[in-house]
Amino acid sequence: MKRAFSGVQPTGNIHIGNYIGALKQFVQLQNEMETVYCIVDLHSITVPQNPKELQEHTLDVAALYLSVGLDPKKSIIFVQSTVPAHAELAWILTCNSYTGELSRMIQFKDKSKEKESAPTGLFTYPLLMAADILLYDAQYVPVGNDQKQHIELTRDLAERFNNKYGDTFVVPEYKGTKVGARIMALDDPTNKMSKSAENEHSRISLLDTPSKVKKSIMRATTDSDNEIRFDEENKPGISNLLAIYSVFSGLDIKEIERKYAGCGYGQLKKDLVEVVNDSLVDIQKKYFEIRKSDELLEILREGTKKAQNISEETMIRVKEKIGLVRL
Ligand code: AMP
Ligand code: TRP
Repeated sequence: MKRAFSGVQPTGNIHIGNYIGALKQFVQLQNEMETVYCIVDLHSITVPQNPKELQEHTLDVAALYLSVGLDPKKSIIFVQSTVPAHAELAWILTCNSYTGELSRMIQFKDKSKEKESAPTGLFTYPLLMAADILLYDAQYVPVGNDQKQHIELTRDLAERFNNKYGDTFVVPEYKGTKVGARIMALDDPTNKMSKSAENEHSRISLLDTPSKVKKSIMRATTDSDNEIRFDEENKPGISNLLAIYSVFSGLDIKEIERKYAGCGYGQLKKDLVEVVNDSLVDIQKKYFEIRKSDELLEILREGTKKAQNISEETMIRVKEKIGLVRL
Protein backbone atom coordinates (compact mmCIF):
# COMPACT_ATOMS: atom_id res chain seq x y z
CA MET A 1 0.00 0.00 0.00
CA LYS A 2 1.39 3.38 -0.98
CA ARG A 3 1.61 6.13 1.60
CA ALA A 4 1.56 9.94 1.49
CA PHE A 5 2.90 12.24 4.20
CA SER A 6 2.63 16.00 4.57
CA GLY A 7 2.59 18.76 7.17
CA VAL A 8 1.51 22.34 7.73
CA GLN A 9 3.02 24.79 10.20
CA PRO A 10 0.72 26.07 12.96
CA THR A 11 1.36 29.73 12.32
CA GLY A 12 -2.17 31.10 11.90
CA ASN A 13 -3.68 32.67 8.79
CA ILE A 14 -4.01 29.41 6.85
CA HIS A 15 -4.95 30.77 3.43
CA ILE A 16 -6.39 29.59 0.15
CA GLY A 17 -2.85 29.06 -1.19
CA ASN A 18 -2.29 26.46 1.55
CA TYR A 19 -5.69 24.99 0.78
CA ILE A 20 -5.19 24.76 -2.98
CA GLY A 21 -1.53 23.73 -2.96
CA ALA A 22 -1.70 21.33 -0.04
CA LEU A 23 -4.91 20.65 1.94
CA LYS A 24 -7.13 19.92 -1.03
CA GLN A 25 -4.65 17.30 -2.24
CA PHE A 26 -4.51 15.81 1.28
CA VAL A 27 -8.25 15.17 1.11
CA GLN A 28 -8.16 13.65 -2.38
CA LEU A 29 -5.33 11.28 -1.51
CA GLN A 30 -7.24 9.81 1.45
CA ASN A 31 -9.18 7.61 -0.95
CA GLU A 32 -6.18 6.49 -2.96
CA MET A 33 -3.59 5.48 -0.37
CA GLU A 34 -2.61 5.54 3.30
CA THR A 35 -2.26 9.14 4.42
CA VAL A 36 -0.42 10.68 7.34
CA TYR A 37 -0.81 14.40 8.07
CA CYS A 38 1.06 16.31 10.68
CA ILE A 39 0.89 19.73 12.28
CA VAL A 40 4.56 20.62 12.33
CA ASP A 41 4.92 22.70 15.48
CA LEU A 42 8.67 22.00 15.78
CA HIS A 43 9.15 23.65 12.40
CA SER A 44 7.31 26.75 13.46
CA ILE A 45 9.67 27.39 16.41
CA THR A 46 12.50 28.01 13.93
CA VAL A 47 11.27 31.60 14.23
CA PRO A 48 10.07 33.24 17.48
CA GLN A 49 6.56 32.20 18.58
CA ASN A 50 4.30 33.32 21.38
CA PRO A 51 3.83 30.09 23.45
CA LYS A 52 0.11 30.62 24.16
CA GLU A 53 -0.61 31.42 20.52
CA LEU A 54 1.44 28.47 19.31
CA GLN A 55 -0.72 26.08 21.33
CA GLU A 56 -3.90 27.68 20.01
CA HIS A 57 -2.69 27.71 16.41
CA THR A 58 -1.75 24.04 16.63
CA LEU A 59 -5.34 23.15 17.51
CA ASP A 60 -6.64 25.65 14.92
CA VAL A 61 -4.79 23.84 12.15
CA ALA A 62 -5.94 20.45 13.43
CA ALA A 63 -9.54 21.72 13.33
CA LEU A 64 -9.00 23.09 9.82
CA TYR A 65 -7.65 19.73 8.68
CA LEU A 66 -10.94 18.17 9.73
CA SER A 67 -13.07 21.04 8.38
CA VAL A 68 -11.68 20.79 4.86
CA GLY A 69 -12.54 17.09 4.83
CA LEU A 70 -9.76 15.03 6.39
CA ASP A 71 -11.32 11.97 7.95
CA PRO A 72 -9.57 10.48 11.00
CA LYS A 73 -10.88 7.05 9.97
CA LYS A 74 -8.88 7.33 6.78
CA SER A 75 -5.92 9.55 7.72
CA ILE A 76 -3.53 9.62 10.65
CA ILE A 77 -3.64 13.18 12.00
CA PHE A 78 -1.18 14.22 14.71
CA VAL A 79 1.07 16.91 16.15
CA GLN A 80 4.78 16.57 15.31
CA SER A 81 6.16 17.30 18.79
CA THR A 82 4.10 14.47 20.31
CA VAL A 83 6.20 11.92 18.41
CA PRO A 84 9.82 12.15 19.64
CA ALA A 85 11.25 10.18 16.70
CA HIS A 86 11.01 13.28 14.46
CA ALA A 87 13.65 15.19 16.39
CA GLU A 88 15.69 12.03 16.86
CA LEU A 89 15.89 11.14 13.18
CA ALA A 90 16.52 14.80 12.30
CA TRP A 91 19.73 14.62 14.34
CA ILE A 92 20.87 11.47 12.57
CA LEU A 93 20.19 13.10 9.20
CA THR A 94 22.07 16.20 10.37
CA CYS A 95 25.10 13.98 10.81
CA ASN A 96 24.68 12.71 7.25
CA SER A 97 24.25 16.07 5.52
CA TYR A 98 26.47 18.95 4.42
CA THR A 99 26.35 22.66 5.14
CA GLY A 100 26.85 23.28 1.42
CA GLU A 101 23.59 21.61 0.39
CA LEU A 102 21.66 23.35 3.17
CA SER A 103 23.10 26.73 2.15
CA ARG A 104 21.54 26.30 -1.29
CA MET A 105 17.97 26.10 0.04
CA ILE A 106 15.92 28.99 -1.34
CA GLN A 107 13.69 29.18 1.74
CA PHE A 108 16.72 29.54 4.00
CA LYS A 109 18.27 32.17 1.75
CA ASP A 110 15.00 34.14 1.70
CA LYS A 111 14.44 33.96 5.44
CA SER A 112 18.00 34.79 6.40
CA LYS A 113 18.44 37.54 3.81
CA GLU A 114 20.08 40.70 5.12
CA LYS A 115 20.79 39.05 8.48
CA GLU A 116 24.34 38.80 9.67
CA SER A 117 23.52 35.65 11.61
CA ALA A 118 20.42 33.45 11.16
CA PRO A 119 18.81 31.08 13.70
CA THR A 120 20.40 27.61 13.41
CA GLY A 121 16.95 26.02 13.28
CA LEU A 122 16.16 27.88 10.06
CA PHE A 123 19.28 26.39 8.55
CA THR A 124 18.56 22.80 9.63
CA TYR A 125 14.80 23.10 9.00
CA PRO A 126 14.92 20.91 5.83
CA LEU A 127 16.54 18.06 7.81
CA LEU A 128 13.62 17.96 10.23
CA MET A 129 11.28 17.99 7.25
CA ALA A 130 13.20 15.09 5.67
CA ALA A 131 12.94 13.19 8.96
CA ASP A 132 9.15 13.74 9.00
CA ILE A 133 8.81 12.19 5.57
CA LEU A 134 11.34 9.36 5.85
CA LEU A 135 9.99 8.11 9.19
CA TYR A 136 6.75 7.05 7.50
CA ASP A 137 8.17 5.42 4.36
CA ALA A 138 6.10 7.89 2.34
CA GLN A 139 6.23 7.55 -1.45
CA TYR A 140 4.39 10.82 -2.00
CA VAL A 141 4.60 14.26 -0.45
CA PRO A 142 1.68 16.51 -1.42
CA VAL A 143 2.87 20.12 -1.04
CA GLY A 144 2.90 23.45 -2.85
CA ASN A 145 5.57 24.22 -5.39
CA ASP A 146 7.64 26.25 -2.86
CA GLN A 147 8.55 22.99 -1.06
CA LYS A 148 9.85 21.17 -4.12
CA GLN A 149 13.50 21.89 -3.37
CA HIS A 150 13.11 20.47 0.15
CA ILE A 151 11.71 17.25 -1.31
CA GLU A 152 14.68 17.05 -3.69
CA LEU A 153 17.01 17.35 -0.70
CA THR A 154 15.03 14.65 1.14
CA ARG A 155 15.51 12.37 -1.87
CA ASP A 156 19.27 13.04 -1.87
CA LEU A 157 19.51 12.33 1.86
CA ALA A 158 17.52 9.10 1.55
CA GLU A 159 19.61 7.87 -1.38
CA ARG A 160 22.86 8.79 0.36
CA PHE A 161 21.83 6.94 3.51
CA ASN A 162 20.67 3.89 1.53
CA ASN A 163 23.96 3.78 -0.37
CA LYS A 164 26.02 4.10 2.77
CA TYR A 165 24.12 1.78 5.13
CA GLY A 166 22.01 -0.41 2.84
CA ASP A 167 18.34 -0.06 1.91
CA THR A 168 16.62 1.80 4.73
CA PHE A 169 14.42 4.60 3.43
CA VAL A 170 11.78 4.91 0.73
CA VAL A 171 12.83 7.68 -1.66
CA PRO A 172 9.82 10.03 -1.77
CA GLU A 173 8.34 12.06 -4.63
CA TYR A 174 6.95 15.59 -4.78
CA LYS A 175 3.25 15.62 -5.58
CA GLY A 176 1.89 18.93 -6.81
CA THR A 177 -1.48 20.02 -8.18
CA LYS A 178 -1.85 20.81 -11.89
CA VAL A 179 -3.58 24.09 -11.14
CA GLY A 180 -2.58 26.20 -8.16
CA ALA A 181 0.70 24.67 -6.96
CA ARG A 182 1.75 28.29 -6.45
CA ILE A 183 -1.06 30.72 -5.68
CA MET A 184 0.12 34.30 -5.92
CA ALA A 185 -0.51 37.29 -3.64
CA LEU A 186 -3.66 39.18 -4.66
CA ASP A 187 -2.01 42.58 -4.33
CA ASP A 188 1.17 41.55 -6.15
CA PRO A 189 0.88 38.52 -8.44
CA THR A 190 4.65 38.29 -8.84
CA ASN A 191 4.96 37.06 -5.21
CA LYS A 192 3.44 33.93 -3.70
CA MET A 193 0.51 34.28 -1.32
CA SER A 194 1.98 34.05 2.18
CA LYS A 195 0.85 33.83 5.78
CA SER A 196 3.15 36.58 6.89
CA ALA A 197 2.73 39.36 4.28
CA GLU A 198 1.84 42.64 5.93
CA ASN A 199 -1.11 43.49 3.70
CA GLU A 200 -4.01 41.30 4.84
CA HIS A 201 -5.67 41.83 1.46
CA SER A 202 -2.78 40.01 -0.20
CA ARG A 203 -4.32 36.72 0.95
CA ILE A 204 -7.66 35.10 1.67
CA SER A 205 -7.55 33.20 4.92
CA LEU A 206 -9.84 30.21 5.29
CA LEU A 207 -11.51 31.94 8.24
CA ASP A 208 -12.02 35.33 6.56
CA THR A 209 -15.50 36.87 6.67
CA PRO A 210 -17.45 37.19 3.38
CA SER A 211 -16.96 40.97 3.38
CA LYS A 212 -13.18 40.64 3.83
CA VAL A 213 -13.07 38.11 0.96
CA LYS A 214 -15.03 40.53 -1.20
CA LYS A 215 -12.69 43.42 -0.46
CA SER A 216 -9.56 41.37 -1.11
CA ILE A 217 -10.80 40.01 -4.44
CA MET A 218 -12.29 43.27 -5.72
CA ARG A 219 -8.97 45.01 -4.96
CA ALA A 220 -6.83 42.30 -6.55
CA THR A 221 -4.18 43.60 -8.91
CA THR A 222 -4.87 42.81 -12.58
CA ASP A 223 -3.72 44.39 -15.84
CA SER A 224 -5.24 46.97 -18.13
CA ASP A 225 -6.12 45.08 -21.30
CA ASN A 226 -9.38 43.71 -19.88
CA GLU A 227 -9.20 40.34 -21.65
CA ILE A 228 -9.94 37.25 -19.55
CA ARG A 229 -7.26 34.82 -20.63
CA PHE A 230 -4.93 32.45 -18.76
CA ASP A 231 -1.37 33.60 -19.45
CA GLU A 232 0.81 33.42 -16.35
CA GLU A 233 3.71 35.25 -17.89
CA ASN A 234 1.93 38.28 -19.33
CA LYS A 235 -1.21 38.31 -17.20
CA PRO A 236 -0.20 36.93 -13.77
CA GLY A 237 -3.02 38.64 -11.86
CA ILE A 238 -5.89 37.38 -14.01
CA SER A 239 -4.26 33.95 -14.35
CA ASN A 240 -4.09 33.69 -10.56
CA LEU A 241 -7.78 34.59 -10.23
CA LEU A 242 -8.65 32.03 -12.92
CA ALA A 243 -6.70 29.33 -11.06
CA ILE A 244 -8.53 30.14 -7.82
CA TYR A 245 -11.87 30.19 -9.66
CA SER A 246 -11.11 26.83 -11.24
CA VAL A 247 -10.24 25.11 -7.98
CA PHE A 248 -13.22 26.42 -6.04
CA SER A 249 -15.79 25.91 -8.83
CA GLY A 250 -14.53 22.62 -10.23
CA LEU A 251 -14.62 24.11 -13.77
CA ASP A 252 -11.49 23.88 -15.82
CA ILE A 253 -9.74 27.05 -16.89
CA LYS A 254 -10.71 26.73 -20.56
CA GLU A 255 -14.38 26.54 -19.58
CA ILE A 256 -14.07 29.64 -17.44
CA GLU A 257 -12.36 31.56 -20.25
CA ARG A 258 -15.24 30.63 -22.55
CA LYS A 259 -17.83 31.58 -19.97
CA TYR A 260 -16.33 35.06 -19.60
CA ALA A 261 -15.43 35.76 -23.24
CA GLY A 262 -16.19 39.41 -23.84
CA CYS A 263 -16.88 40.17 -20.15
CA GLY A 264 -14.87 42.61 -18.05
CA TYR A 265 -12.70 41.87 -14.99
CA GLY A 266 -15.39 43.31 -12.70
CA GLN A 267 -17.83 40.52 -13.56
CA LEU A 268 -15.21 37.81 -13.11
CA LYS A 269 -14.21 39.20 -9.72
CA LYS A 270 -17.81 39.53 -8.54
CA ASP A 271 -18.56 35.92 -9.41
CA LEU A 272 -15.28 34.75 -7.90
CA VAL A 273 -16.26 36.36 -4.58
CA GLU A 274 -19.38 34.19 -4.57
CA VAL A 275 -17.60 31.01 -5.60
CA VAL A 276 -14.97 31.41 -2.86
CA ASN A 277 -17.41 32.47 -0.16
CA ASP A 278 -19.71 29.50 -0.88
CA SER A 279 -16.84 27.10 -0.18
CA LEU A 280 -15.49 28.99 2.83
CA VAL A 281 -18.90 29.07 4.51
CA ASP A 282 -18.99 25.27 4.58
CA ILE A 283 -15.44 24.98 5.89
CA GLN A 284 -16.06 27.61 8.58
CA LYS A 285 -19.28 26.03 9.77
CA LYS A 286 -17.48 22.74 10.44
CA TYR A 287 -14.48 24.54 11.89
CA PHE A 288 -16.45 26.29 14.61
CA GLU A 289 -18.20 23.04 15.57
CA ILE A 290 -14.98 21.05 15.81
CA ARG A 291 -12.54 23.58 17.24
CA LYS A 292 -13.90 23.56 20.80
CA SER A 293 -14.93 19.92 20.93
CA ASP A 294 -13.21 17.24 23.03
CA GLU A 295 -13.34 15.07 19.94
CA LEU A 296 -10.51 17.12 18.44
CA LEU A 297 -8.10 16.22 21.25
CA GLU A 298 -9.20 12.59 21.12
CA ILE A 299 -8.46 12.43 17.38
CA LEU A 300 -5.01 13.92 17.91
CA ARG A 301 -4.23 11.47 20.75
CA GLU A 302 -5.25 8.56 18.55
CA GLY A 303 -3.09 9.98 15.74
CA THR A 304 -0.07 10.23 18.05
CA LYS A 305 -0.38 6.55 19.00
CA LYS A 306 -0.54 5.39 15.39
CA ALA A 307 2.28 7.69 14.30
CA GLN A 308 4.44 6.52 17.20
CA ASN A 309 3.98 2.89 16.21
CA ILE A 310 5.10 3.48 12.63
CA SER A 311 7.97 5.80 13.48
CA GLU A 312 9.36 3.59 16.27
CA GLU A 313 9.75 0.73 13.81
CA THR A 314 11.64 2.97 11.43
CA MET A 315 13.93 4.13 14.24
CA ILE A 316 14.77 0.54 15.20
CA ARG A 317 15.80 -0.08 11.59
CA VAL A 318 17.83 3.13 11.36
CA LYS A 319 19.63 2.67 14.68
CA GLU A 320 20.53 -0.90 13.80
CA LYS A 321 22.04 0.26 10.48
CA ILE A 322 24.23 2.94 11.96
CA GLY A 323 25.33 0.93 14.97
CA LEU A 324 23.49 2.55 17.88
CA VAL A 325 23.21 -0.01 20.63
CA ARG A 326 19.88 -1.65 21.44
CA LEU A 327 19.62 -2.91 25.01
P1 AMP B 1 3.27 26.37 5.33
O1 AMP B 1 2.26 27.37 5.67
O2 AMP B 1 4.53 26.99 4.90
O3 AMP B 1 3.41 25.31 6.36
O4 AMP B 1 2.70 25.66 4.04
C1 AMP B 1 1.74 24.65 4.08
C2 AMP B 1 1.53 24.07 2.71
O5 AMP B 1 0.96 25.05 1.83
C3 AMP B 1 2.83 23.64 2.01
O6 AMP B 1 2.57 22.43 1.30
C4 AMP B 1 3.13 24.75 1.06
O7 AMP B 1 3.87 24.33 -0.04
C5 AMP B 1 1.73 25.17 0.65
N1 AMP B 1 1.69 26.57 0.23
C6 AMP B 1 2.09 27.65 0.94
N2 AMP B 1 1.89 28.78 0.25
C7 AMP B 1 1.36 28.41 -0.95
C8 AMP B 1 0.93 29.13 -2.11
N3 AMP B 1 1.01 30.46 -2.17
N4 AMP B 1 0.43 28.42 -3.15
C9 AMP B 1 0.35 27.07 -3.10
N5 AMP B 1 0.72 26.33 -2.03
C10 AMP B 1 1.23 26.98 -0.96
N1 TRP C 1 8.13 22.86 5.23
C1 TRP C 1 6.73 22.70 5.00
C2 TRP C 1 6.13 24.09 4.71
O1 TRP C 1 6.60 25.08 5.15
C3 TRP C 1 6.03 22.07 6.16
C4 TRP C 1 6.52 20.68 6.40
C5 TRP C 1 7.27 20.26 7.47
C6 TRP C 1 6.28 19.54 5.60
N2 TRP C 1 7.50 18.92 7.37
C7 TRP C 1 6.93 18.45 6.25
C8 TRP C 1 5.62 19.35 4.39
C9 TRP C 1 6.92 17.17 5.69
C10 TRP C 1 5.62 18.07 3.85
C11 TRP C 1 6.26 16.98 4.49
O2 TRP C 1 5.15 24.16 4.07
